Amino acid sequence: MKSIAIIGAQWGDEGKGKVTDQLAGQADLVIRYQGGNNAGHTIIVDTKKIVLHLIPSGILNPKCVSVIGHGVVFDPTAFMKELAEVKAHVNVSPENLKISLNCAVITSYHKVIDAAREGQSSVKIGTTGRGIGPAYEDKVARRGIKLKDLLDKEVLIQKLKHQVQEKLHLFDSLYKVSYPSIEEEATTLHKLGKEIEPYLCDTMSLIEKAHQQSKNLLYEGAQGILLDIDYGTYPYVTSSSTAAGGIFTGAGCPGGKVDEIIGVCKAYTTRVGEGPFPTELFDSTGELIQKKGNEFGATTGRKRRCGWLDLPLLKYAVKASYLTSLCITKLDILSGIGDLKICYAYEYEGKEIDCAYPGIDLSKVKPLYKTLKAFDDAFETSNVSEYLNLYISEIEKAVKIPVGIIAYGPERKQIYFRRKYYN
Ligand code: IMP
Repeated sequence: MKSIAIIGAQWGDEGKGKVTDQLAGQADLVIRYQGGNNAGHTIIVDTKKIVLHLIPSGILNPKCVSVIGHGVVFDPTAFMKELAEVKAHVNVSPENLKISLNCAVITSYHKVIDAAREGQSSVKIGTTGRGIGPAYEDKVARRGIKLKDLLDKEVLIQKLKHQVQEKLHLFDSLYKVSYPSIEEEATTLHKLGKEIEPYLCDTMSLIEKAHQQSKNLLYEGAQGILLDIDYGTYPYVTSSSTAAGGIFTGAGCPGGKVDEIIGVCKAYTTRVGEGPFPTELFDSTGELIQKKGNEFGATTGRKRRCGWLDLPLLKYAVKASYLTSLCITKLDILSGIGDLKICYAYEYEGKEIDCAYPGIDLSKVKPLYKTLKAFDDAFETSNVSEYLNLYISEIEKAVKIPVGIIAYGPERKQIYFRRKYYN
């Protein structure tokens, strides 16, 4: 029995899906606890590319139960679409997919307001446009609609009226955008609710029971620690607790602790959307990494910004999520591109600092770099070259936790475990 969490240690898109998919082979439950269909976990199975947004990556393992915990914001329309796509590849049934009755629902109004703000406001976050932030806002404002509310149309209409009361003024007077009537929205959501009903249950009790039965749990984080609402680069963050704390509030953690928290981190850094990025590259090396790494967002298709690995941010991520080991992904992209730089510290407010902290103004830091020798590994065996070893040990020295996994390609088999996770 063991509980393991997989968490993005940067700004998301670190390749968590691939690692989750691998460890899910030994897990009994794979649990999502935050975010929604803003995530995009790409997994290549037998040359087929499967992109999961809302459904946990455990779904590709037939022995595993996939769980969507109550901390996730749930778009019923997007879910039904994704379910149909996933069903084309694997078996999905109410036995292997369980969704919390208590997830907050993303309604059409949340998507309308997300798009209107991004389109018309002077401060853009560069959201995925999936209505994530507005859905969390309503949840925190205590006017959220929970999945169980979709099952009773009268209750749903009452709750929708409460939820849209203020928004209608914004839609009509400020943004001047169209939106569905409450009756239309209630009809759509009620119908979807009935289709989703077989999958709904009390997931917290399910997780607790699995723990009592000594099962292996795998918590699947979405986005990354630097996008966390509290620990992230606010305001350019997502609206959930992407760090390990989200597990406790968004799913439940029987026993009170997670045994292993794996931070997934690319060998370099990428970011989509707006916000400061100290090691961002604006030159041909940045372009090369972007092209070679095929750095386009899995959810929105946007080009990802690329830069060198940033150790002050990685050290901060380790602290913010109590990471116990790292998985470094996409090492193959740095192979053969020449000498590499790694940011070991910042110059900030006249001082040199080697670890970020909540509230630091990253737009004002100057990254300080060390140059490391190029490596050109082909990654066909588990033996790695001297210079690749040096790159990895430079990271381990800084973060003071081991690199337990290295990944070097999109396919399932292109991953190497340097230690055992489940016994
Ligand atoms: P939202 O989550 O759609 O509200 O977007 C807020 C910020 O988080 C934007 O900068 C997005 O680009 C970013 N974001 C959200 N989900 C992901 C993800 O899965 N990977 C990378 N960035 C993401």
